[in-house]
Amino acid sequence: MRGTSLNLSPVRLAKSILGPDEAKAVSRVILEDGYLGMGREVESFEAEIAAFLGVPSSHVVCVSSGTAALHLAVAAICKADDEILVQSLTYVASYQAISAAAIPVSCEVLEKNITINLDDAKSRITPATRAIMPVHYASNPGDLSAIYEFAKKNDIRVIEDAAHAFGCSYDGKLIGSFGDIVCFSFDGIKNITSGEGGAVVTADADVAQQVRDARLLGVEKDTAKRFSGERSWEFDVSQQGYRYHMSNLFAAIGRVQLSRFAKEFAPKRVALAQQYRTLLGNHPQVNLLESDLGAIIPHIQPICVTAGRRDALKDYLEKNSIQTGIHYKPNHLLSYYGSGKESFIVSERLYKELLSLPLHPEMRTDEVQAICNLIIKFLAS
Ligand SMILES: Cc1ncc(COP(=O)(O)O)c(C=O)c1O
Repeated sequence: MRGTSLNLSPVRLAKSILGPDEAKAVSRVILEDGYLGMGREVESFEAEIAAFLGVPSSHVVCVSSGTAALHLAVAAICKADDEILVQSLTYVASYQAISAAAIPVSCEVLEKNITINLDDAKSRITPATRAIMPVHYASNPGDLSAIYEFAKKNDIRVIEDAAHAFGCSYDGKLIGSFGDIVCFSFDGIKNITSGEGGAVVTADADVAQQVRDARLLGVEKDTAKRFSGERSWEFDVSQQGYRYHMSNLFAAIGRVQLSRFAKEFAPKRVALAQQYRTLLGNHPQVNLLESDLGAIIPHIQPICVTAGRRDALKDYLEKNSIQTGIHYKPNHLLSYYGSGKESFIVSERLYKELLSLPLHPEMRTDEVQAICNLIIKFLAS
């Protein structure tokens, strides 16, 4: 079956939305400042993220990626044999960040929103459990108050993988404006991008300082020098560090993106996701995840396609120039994380049903309409 009658030009699953303002900002760094390392632009980006979240600037530490943010957060609180509870159904970045400095312990997800299943997590606590890493899948923070209560009761830390959730709220508060340690990603297709980049946000001054030093090869207190255009020549190092700092070039892009977020990107993402919900919400062969579009800014638009038809629908959409994705293959199925020796029934079923549809702020409503028409037509066949 073909749907070419709709005559769609290729629709991308995701897209970086950059324009002349980002180009000007990058040129300014190159032509006026000429310092491409970590300096004043990064300092300003951190201050502007902090102002957006309503937290002190000292709580925000920008790094080279969301994975680096997670890795540094884990390294700041864990020893190598500490365990971190994490849902198996997440991007491999969450797992790699944990296994770089500790041990990931796979947990099941809730079917309704693909956030961590706390009952399952409870059954996996051991004396070595040091933290839980809730993943805000498709921008949904899940039941964060239950997660924090669980962490408090068991005396463990919380590292929120908020890679999908920049600009989202929980209980009327922005993600990152409260909580323990929150990690964002600013890679090319996230709610805002800095090209590549990420941030650790925490009110824990010790963790913030460790992350700040560790992003610059462990050189102690180098950040203040870099922000004033200098660097340390005489220094000490007392922990393992990494070259994970953010460049001025990337921060310059991020600053423009942040200024565009509330008026331009956020309402567009919400409106497109709302349109998908309206058009597919009652379809008997499609399940939508629970999602509060009054509180979240969706980064991806997954649907669950039942009756074993996901792969055929994916092929059909690709043939009609619609890019789709599968977020994600559960990590417990990967060789490095156990080759499926453990079984997580819900995660494994969802992996066969999940299909992410195109979502980015340059999409048009007629494209969403055409994609949904194709899906409905295919599923009726
Ligand atoms: C759930 C999740 N965690 C972590 C990351 C890592 O972020 P980055 O790509 O910036 O390293 C991503 C990136 O896509 C992600 O989707």
